[in-house]
Amino acid sequence: NTKGFIFDLDGVIVDTAKYHYLAWKALAKSIGIDFTVHQNEQLKGISRESSLNKILEWGNKTLPKDKFMELMKEKNDQYLSYISKMDENEILPGVTQILDYISKQKHPIALGSASKNSKIILKKVNLINRFNAIIDGNNVTKAKPDPEVFLKAANAISIPANQCVVFEDSVAGIQAANIANMISIGIGNATILNEADFVFKDFTEIHQDFLENLIKTKKE
Ligand code: BG6
Ligand code: MG
Repeated sequence: NTKGFIFDLDGVIVDTAKYHYLAWKALAKSIGIDFTVHQNEQLKGISRESSLNKILEWGNKTLPKDKFMELMKEKNDQYLSYISKMDENEILPGVTQILDYISKQKHPIALGSASKNSKIILKKVNLINRFNAIIDGNNVTKAKPDPEVFLKAANAISIPANQCVVFEDSVAGIQAANIANMISIGIGNATILNEADFVFKDFTEIHQDFLENLIKTKKE
């Protein structure tokens, strides 16, 4: 009974969600827009372009195309400066252990992320070799909650969607996994991620007996 395990990146494998937040917060401030931590939840899981569109919407602002492109670059440069300092210490608790367990049981592992920076980050934290397939923002045209990224990931590891398990920290990502008919596991706050099949605070709370049962179940 082979399962496909699909991991989101930012906020699931590494704590980069905080860097996205800091970079967007500073960029928004530079154009006179402020947004809350609550609004930030809506930026999780969505593309760079959609994020800037949302921020502009919140601030009731429109921008010419060239200025828009300039701001996206500015945000990414800031983000990359945070990323450049990353190392293995920024792998979130329990991640290495669960990857070990899954590969030992011979289930394929894929990345399903909206980020165009995923390979840089996985190299920085030395996890790039743990993935049988990497599907990220460079491979998709439709942002989460569209299931495209997860369906492509499942396809890349040759596992049917209803035999896949998705780990996600964003509302949009949980919705995408549910639409794809995959088992959705939220990593984070159970109130925010209430649409998930299961929610855990972090990977240290996921025990082996839970995984064993999960491997036996499948979505209809
Ligand atoms: C997602 C993040 O993983 O990737 C979003 O949750 C981010 O916050 C998106 O906007 C795109 O990332 P990047 O690295 O291509 O700007
Ligand atoms: Mg995420």
